[in-house]
Amino acid sequence: MHTLICGQTESGKSTLAAYFARSYVAAGRPVLILDPIGVGWPSGRGVLWTADPDYFSYQAKRCRGALLVVDEAGEAVGTFQRQMQWVTTRSRHLGHSALLVAQRPPMVAPNVRNQCRRLYLFTLAPEDAKVCAVEWNAPVLRESPRLEQHFFLSVDRYGDAGLWESRPAGAPVRVDTLPRMGL
Ligand SMILES: Nc1ncnc2c1ncn2[C@@H]1O[C@H](COP(=O)(O)OP(=O)(O)OP(=O)(O)O)[C@@H](O)[C@H]1O
Ligand SMILES: [Mg+2]
Repeated sequence: MHTLICGQTESGKSTLAAYFARSYVAAGRPVLILDPIGVGWPSGRGVLWTADPDYFSYQAKRCRGALLVVDEAGEAVGTFQRQMQWVTTRSRHLGHSALLVAQRPPMVAPNVRNQCRRLYLFTLAPEDAKVCAVEWNAPVLRESPRLEQHFFLSVDRYGDAGLWESRPAGAPVRVDTLPRMGL
């Protein structure tokens, strides 16, 4: 299953992504991270961080059942577009799950967004929030501009929606259950 994390700078996206990476490591599963900065990720056996898109793709094709993290952070739009396309359309056949991180939804191609079943949305400009509300069919996402730093809305295309608080160390905490179609 693929997941997209969006939100303004310093909202908490990479911190949340690092939590999921640590969970995979704890479960003994491989984690591959493509990110231009490389700070804050777990290290050790089974974890690979690189800023090189080609090396990332090469390694992703050589393993199975990994968490593939692509964190664009504040890079130019489309920096890792090719990797995001491959990760969301092909990597499922290798048993991988993708975790894509971008400040704004338009930084990610529409067909890549459509391949993501789950969305974790931190605070966002109203126009961007509207795009997500339409694409995930969840009007509650229009409320994301009101979120405080480190809080995020979680929406699953086939599941429920919730309000969560991320924690710098440890698991995120569910604050509220939201009516998926309400608000
Ligand atoms: N729940 C939290 N409580 C307190 N501090 C937090 C929490 N989550 C993240 N932080 C801190 O907030 C700062 C920004 O978080 P983070 O780097 O995850 O943001 P980001 O959304 O990835 O930003 P950018 O788009 O610039 O990469 C970091 O210093 C991080 O340690
Ligand atoms: Mg970040």
